[in-house]
Amino acid sequence: MSEHSANPSTAAATGRPRAVKAVIPAAGLATRFLPATKAVPKELLPVVDRPVLQYIVEEAAQAGIGDVLLITGRGKTSMVDHFDRRPDLEERLAQKPDLLAAVKRTEELAAIYTCRQPEQLGLGHAVGYAESHVGDQPFAVLLGDEFVKPSEPLLPAMLELQARTGGVVLAFFEVDPAETKRYGIASVEPAESELTDIGEVVKVTGMVEKPTPEEAPSNLAVLGRYVLPGKIFDAIRRTPPGSGGEIQLTDAMELLRTEGTPVHAIVYRGTRYDTGMPLGYLQTVVQIAAEREDLGTEFRKWLTDFVNTDASGGPNT
Ligand code: UTP
Repeated sequence: MSEHSANPSTAAATGRPRAVKAVIPAAGLATRFLPATKAVPKELLPVVDRPVLQYIVEEAAQAGIGDVLLITGRGKTSMVDHFDRRPDLEERLAQKPDLLAAVKRTEELAAIYTCRQPEQLGLGHAVGYAESHVGDQPFAVLLGDEFVKPSEPLLPAMLELQARTGGVVLAFFEVDPAETKRYGIASVEPAESELTDIGEVVKVTGMVEKPTPEEAPSNLAVLGRYVLPGKIFDAIRRTPPGSGGEIQLTDAMELLRTEGTPVHAIVYRGTRYDTGMPLGYLQTVVQIAAEREDLGTEFRKWLTDFVNTDASGGPNT
């Protein structure tokens, strides 16, 4: 599939436009990854030889989104540099076509725009800064520390679902019921039958932040992808600080839902990489390295030897 072929610009059933812009909120302090993230944004941590953020922009581009707004904060402007042109480097790489292509690819993925969230007052607050770029059109939000396997895409179905409903579209993944305390968990009911050709679609009836297994209404956890209607900005303005004193995107979406905006979600059963903390990041690096055509065979062999021999002196033996 070519990068821009997955997005006919309107939903066949409604003629409503599909979202064509993405917002990546990446202004957070990344406390779970300190001290690495004191000076390096977590979005720039490398997974093999590409920063996490590049995988995310590639995910947007693959879904036909060619306009990406990065919400950045203090010490994070290097994220934008990654997508900038480097004529000096390109000149040096003239005799190294593979590296040259890899460098040029970062420049050609999408048009990258940026704005700053001056204070880290929450995800909802960060998304609010996208209003002047996005206007009243629907748009996708991709959190900057999570991405999905390119061969198992999620965004195209979410964009289609949003164009059909005109409402809020989320994505969920199933978690072990004992683990609900780590996630936002949804309560759901079956979706309208005319939406089910898009994928495993559910209608959202509520959301609870980090419930205990006893309180959890399901084991469906919120994944870091949203497709939102332009009216979310007004809802964010009307949303008071919530959990942790932050302006929560979940609260703004819940406000819209209680006022009658439909909220649906796709249940994603593909592979999701969560790089927001050290364990998930390590798992991501190992999985992607093991699958790489150029490195995979050698890396898997080394990993097997390591697990069978060198690692046997670890803490569990
Ligand atoms: P997280 O809750 O993961 O926060 O934010 P964080 O700062 O990235 O990481 P921890 O929890 O301290 O380790 C979810 C997403 O929202 C963005 C983050 O950059 C991340 O992509 N965010 C969060 C903002 O852009 N601004 C904020 O004020 C808060």
